Amino acid sequence: MKAASSLDRRFSSPYVVFGILLAAVSVAFSNPIVLTVQAGQSGKAISPHLIGIFFEDLNYAADGGLYAELIQNRSFEYSPTEQSSWHPLSFWELQRRGGGDGSVSVSDARSIHLNNPTYALLQVRTPGDGVGIANSGFGGIPLIAGETYNASFWAYQAFMGIMWGRGDNRRPMPVSVRLETRGGEVLAEARTEILGREWRKVSMSLTPTRTVNDARLVVLAHEQGGICFDMVSLFPEKTFRSRSNGLRADLAQAIADIHPKFVRFPGGCLVHAGGIRRYYNWKDSIGPLEQRCSGPNYAWGYHQSMGLGYFEYFQFCEDIGAKPIPIVSAGVSCQHSGHSPNRGQEGLPMDEMPAYIQDVLDLIEWANGPATSMWGAKRAAAGHPEPFGLKYIGVGNEEAVTPLFKERFEMIYEAIKEKHPEIVVIGTSGPFASGEDFDNGWAFAKELDLEMVDEHYYVNPQWFWDNLNRYNTYDREGAKVYVGEYAAHDRNRERNTLRSALAEAAGLTSFERNGDIVNFTSYAPLFARRGHTQWHPDLIYFNGTEVFPTANYYVQQLFGQNCGDRYLDTVFGAGDTRRLAASSVKDAKTGDLIVKVVNGGDDPRDINIRLAGLPTDASMKAVKTVLTGPDADAANEDGQAPFVKPVTSTEAVKSAFTYSAPANSLTVYRITQ
Ligand code: AHR
Repeated sequence: MKAASSLDRRFSSPYVVFGILLAAVSVAFSNPIVLTVQAGQSGKAISPHLIGIFFEDLNYAADGGLYAELIQNRSFEYSPTEQSSWHPLSFWELQRRGGGDGSVSVSDARSIHLNNPTYALLQVRTPGDGVGIANSGFGGIPLIAGETYNASFWAYQAFMGIMWGRGDNRRPMPVSVRLETRGGEVLAEARTEILGREWRKVSMSLTPTRTVNDARLVVLAHEQGGICFDMVSLFPEKTFRSRSNGLRADLAQAIADIHPKFVRFPGGCLVHAGGIRRYYNWKDSIGPLEQRCSGPNYAWGYHQSMGLGYFEYFQFCEDIGAKPIPIVSAGVSCQHSGHSPNRGQEGLPMDEMPAYIQDVLDLIEWANGPATSMWGAKRAAAGHPEPFGLKYIGVGNEEAVTPLFKERFEMIYEAIKEKHPEIVVIGTSGPFASGEDFDNGWAFAKELDLEMVDEHYYVNPQWFWDNLNRYNTYDREGAKVYVGEYAAHDRNRERNTLRSALAEAAGLTSFERNGDIVNFTSYAPLFARRGHTQWHPDLIYFNGTEVFPTANYYVQQLFGQNCGDRYLDTVFGAGDTRRLAASSVKDAKTGDLIVKVVNGGDDPRDINIRLAGLPTDASMKAVKTVLTGPDADAANEDGQAPFVKPVTSTEAVKSAFTYSAPANSLTVYRITQ
């Protein structure tokens, strides 16, 4: 056999082959790839409501999160059914100041309301400098010097002197309410008196002298006697939009900054996880706070005060211009409930279905009915006489699509449609992007001719790149799609990497491109409090005072702030497009043309953007926003200025221009024509 010449050897060496490939690849990357946007055409109508949010109370998203209440266990209802070590006095500490002596116990003998059974009975044997109770909120109460905090509690005078004794009950019990540091420094104080046997609400304003992050609220009684307390509360005056019983301003603002077009709530698993009669009942969440049914968050194993209830959700939607999308149980429990994974689905007995269906119909009346209707009157009494304009209701969440489920879903659906044909009912297609429940959910939706179906997928980043064409082939005559929960889960789920964010951005370009069939999308989950995070990744992490936006959050923000109502054909020319994705929309309100480009590769890519149909000599103003980082593994760190965040600049562009998209980047061009 002839020996290989040195030339042959050179060409067959693996190094040489690698070198040739590298050269070919860099030629491909150095030649700009063409991206043609049909900017001169009117394009196709797409959903102007594509980007929304999904709020679920997990990871302490509600109490200790979005709900601005600073007191934990304000109504003394914590219970071992929530966490085995919890009881009605959890997070409360007895205070015996300056020789004071006494005790605190739990009672349910004279509740404020049946829905709020337990309360604290404070007995003062020796007043000293005060005997009382203290609460440090959710790991220390954060206070800002000079700002106003609204404290309140419900109380009645049980007795003066000693219990069962002959105290003089005409004398009031003097009470002081303080904000204190852990070390006992008084930052603010107010005094009041409790007189009489009727439960009465007492309110006061407190203005701390110092900014601290770990204060506590202390309520002290100053004479011998007994006093009962319930609903001990502290709110910053500065809530989002200054609402009373409002939302934490920074967290609510973080949501508002996404410009979400809708809010889905209250779950998720929260809707149906507790077992068949322990679904989230919206009626438990409305009305005077002291009469709401607080209780276990069965899905996520802690307490829900219900202070953030349906009225507050709807009001928040209105405040930020988003559509409310409540999700109600489909009359079945989650298939994982009752400690029986996949075998736990149970249906409400048929004789209980009419009452349950009536609850759903009542929700529509509560939201949309006139103030003179029975449920509309309750909305009006809460301060909102005008209807909220509810249009969508989701029925069920990730259900196993069984005969049990189908029978109950259909009953609820028919009842809604009969009474309220104007309401769009959103069906469910199981927990995954494909598989048995997915197929059955969609087949069932077809059978019923549903208008919209909810899809959920938590998948790896590559999945999004592999599925950019998923919706191209969906039946345009069939139900619209609501991608109600999705996220890219990178190898380490605790890191919200740029890689995961860009995979979602790529997915979002495909949602926009298919915005004629994909109507709504919402990342999940939304919030996670550090120290109470049960699920990773989340969109927004936070602690008592700070908000930590992730790279994924900024992707949502960029798509939410730069949405449109018409899609313009956007196509890459020949070349390697494996890690490239793009979409273009037009926004009728501003007339702006918005081009989004995702480069998920580890090299910069030169892209020749051609805005076909626009005059070649036109010079247009473009606001360019780039979200990138040093590499795909980059992630923002708590307590540090975000590393991966959008950077905006302004430039003039022509109808054809070359853009060098940085490695691992999302770029949004907002072009004013
Ligand atoms: O988003 C977290 C959970 O994921 C939701 O509660 C549930 O719907 C899904 O399985």
